[in-house]
Amino acid sequence: MEVIKAVKEMQRWSEAARLRGERIAFVPTMGYLHEGHLSLMREGRRRADRLVVSIFVNPTQFGPREDFNTYPRDFERDCVLMERVPVDVVFAPEPAEMYPQGFQTWVETTELTRGLCGAFRPGHFRGVTTVVAKLFNIVKPHLAFFGEKDYQQLRTVERMVSDLNFDVEIVAMPTVREPDGLAMSSRNAYLSSAERQAALALSRALNAAQRRFREGSFLAEELLAEARQVLAQEPTVRVEYLEVADARTLEPISKLDRPAVIAIAAWVGRTRLIDNVVLADVGAQ
Ligand code: PAF
Repeated sequence: MEVIKAVKEMQRWSEAARLRGERIAFVPTMGYLHEGHLSLMREGRRRADRLVVSIFVNPTQFGPREDFNTYPRDFERDCVLMERVPVDVVFAPEPAEMYPQGFQTWVETTELTRGLCGAFRPGHFRGVTTVVAKLFNIVKPHLAFFGEKDYQQLRTVERMVSDLNFDVEIVAMPTVREPDGLAMSSRNAYLSSAERQAALALSRALNAAQRRFREGSFLAEELLAEARQVLAQEPTVRVEYLEVADARTLEPISKLDRPAVIAIAAWVGRTRLIDNVVLADVGAQ
């Protein structure tokens, strides 16, 4: 496995692979890898000739009071996990390589990033779309893999790719969960064991709402009430938002007459967690 830190070198590597007719799969990450990331990598391995993973904790997607400095990092451990996939190239630039002095060009998707996490993390998605656009120009992938766990990010990147005509196929992969239902996230590493237990309320609440939906309830308010009841049993969990939204536009909806997503963001202690379920089989009209 090759580790590349320079933009130019990564571009040369990808150009050479493309000239050989090889298809490149790409998994962008911020490191501290878990089974969710590895599932994206395995699918990338399966679907292309070459697999590139980036590890870059992107400063521009963190707000001034967010956890950029404390975000978990363990490059050695990540490399051991990636060797096993196996990954061909790890692109791991320093911040100054990605954002040299004078950097001032941004990529922003407007409507899709207004609500949900976008409402609580101003500038976050502008940082995400900017870095993903840059990574696409550097790694030049044919396919790029994103997890449904970051649902708003996935939809936003898909929109950016379509609006700006990036020649990259975005592949969405299902959320990977711990056996007890907790959605895998690098930020789970922040949780104490009591907090980890409390954090289960998120997936339980979403499951309860999903159950209600499957039983035939198509009113967002009813599903939300079901989820709120579960969350109320865990008073240490502070809900930031809990919403039913159109799965495509992410606009809030009151009736599930089209594919929808129930999304939640909540604080457990000092850790902000997100999760969602997609409710796709529509019965109500
Ligand atoms: O999902 C992430 O880990 C990040 O937002 C991404 C896509 C790697 C961009 O920094």
